[in-house]
Amino acid sequence: MPQKCYLALAAAAAVASVRDQGAIWSQCGGVGWTGATTCVDGAVCTAQSDNYSQCVPVIATMTASTTVTSASKTTTTSPSNTVAPRPGTLKFVGVNIAGFDFGCTTDGSCTTGAANPPLTQYSGKDGEGQMTHFVNGDGYNVFRLPVGWQFLTNNIIGPVDQTNLAEYDALVQSCLATGAYCILDIHNYARWNKGASIIGQGGPTNAQFAQTWTEIATFYKDTQKVVFGIMNEPHDIPDMNLWAGSVQAAVTAIRNAGATTQMILLPGNDYTSAGAFVSNGSGDALKKVVNPDGSATNLIFDVHQYLDSDNSGTHAECVTNNIDSAWAPLVEWLRANKRQAFNTETGGGNTASCVQYMCQQIAYQAQNSDVILGYVGWSAGNFDASYVLSELPSGSGSSWADTELVAQCMAPKAGAQRGSMS
Ligand SMILES: *[C@@H]1O[C@H](CO)[C@@H](O)[C@H](O)[C@H]1NC(C)=O
Ligand SMILES: *[C@@H]1O[C@H](CO)[C@@H](O)[C@H](O)[C@H]1NC(C)=O
Repeated sequence: MPQKCYLALAAAAAVASVRDQGAIWSQCGGVGWTGATTCVDGAVCTAQSDNYSQCVPVIATMTASTTVTSASKTTTTSPSNTVAPRPGTLKFVGVNIAGFDFGCTTDGSCTTGAANPPLTQYSGKDGEGQMTHFVNGDGYNVFRLPVGWQFLTNNIIGPVDQTNLAEYDALVQSCLATGAYCILDIHNYARWNKGASIIGQGGPTNAQFAQTWTEIATFYKDTQKVVFGIMNEPHDIPDMNLWAGSVQAAVTAIRNAGATTQMILLPGNDYTSAGAFVSNGSGDALKKVVNPDGSATNLIFDVHQYLDSDNSGTHAECVTNNIDSAWAPLVEWLRANKRQAFNTETGGGNTASCVQYMCQQIAYQAQNSDVILGYVGWSAGNFDASYVLSELPSGSGSSWADTELVAQCMAPKAGAQRGSMS
């Protein structure tokens, strides 16, 4: 029986008559192409470059991503970018569990009183129950846990506040208890408060930034399933080479604290835009960042991309699958440089347009899983269900229902459902 996501894709293709639809794997677009631009049921026209689009089977890619997700639940080895996943499988699929970052704005200021832990013991939503549902009910295997820098240090550029770290750690432990990987994300846009506040470029020094990471990495050095997300969404960075130096300081601090094997996510400019990563110089600057042994093992580029009209993640409707504008050039660059990226924020409204474009984006990422590790949806946690990009499941205990976009597209389980139709 057809699932709704499948129907939405098929409906988009149904505007052309059947004889105009491309067979699976046939060309369906590109510069100069005059043939069919839609695909038969079960396939979606997916741009491989500006010059070439192809009818890619949806079922194959979705089924494959589910396979690897469930496989990774039973493995205890830490991830390594020396592992080459098969094309068609994503190693990580996850959800952001937001709340500790509430009150943070793009100028790097964070009102710590507005931090809202997504944990019932702190009067928040049941983040633990959400994560347990996402793993056991949907097949997810990673969560990203945003937190304001000011919350971690209790508003001073100085030592980590142990009381606040313990509060954040309650969420981290809830995440780890599900068996998933847990991304620690300092959600500060490369800044501390307003004005000339950019880390290493007028704001806190690299040493001050590194000190925070030394303390966090010391705390988690023996926890193999944490991932260090150095900084959320730097933007308007005057000098990318200086920023790469700040990122290097954090990487060196984390490794020297004893967290020698875990993944570290390296964030570029332009709100970590996947689409601007190559064209605006983030890749060329960040590829020089290395571990203390000179290698780039488990140094993964952090990229975000939304699907709405201005890539802001603020609109309910989606207008693009980002393949031509972002993923294709990024994938090409990553292969040429033998590196990998992780899409730690993406999302859309619970609308038919987002189901359609998100399914296409995920299918493309899965086809390029040798260089794209996975994606993390924005967002569940302490948002209200009315939030435009809500991925908040409704329910409690062991009974939860997913939002439309999660159920039909983003959850690994959605692929399993569609795979079983064939
Ligand atoms: C598309 O084709 C043109 C002309 O052959 C070529 O110059 C260009 O590099 C191609 N673009 C891509 C993305 O392959
Ligand atoms: C590229 O980076 C510069 C410096 O941060 C910024 O001013 C500019 O807006 C960025 N351009 C694009 C296209 O994102």
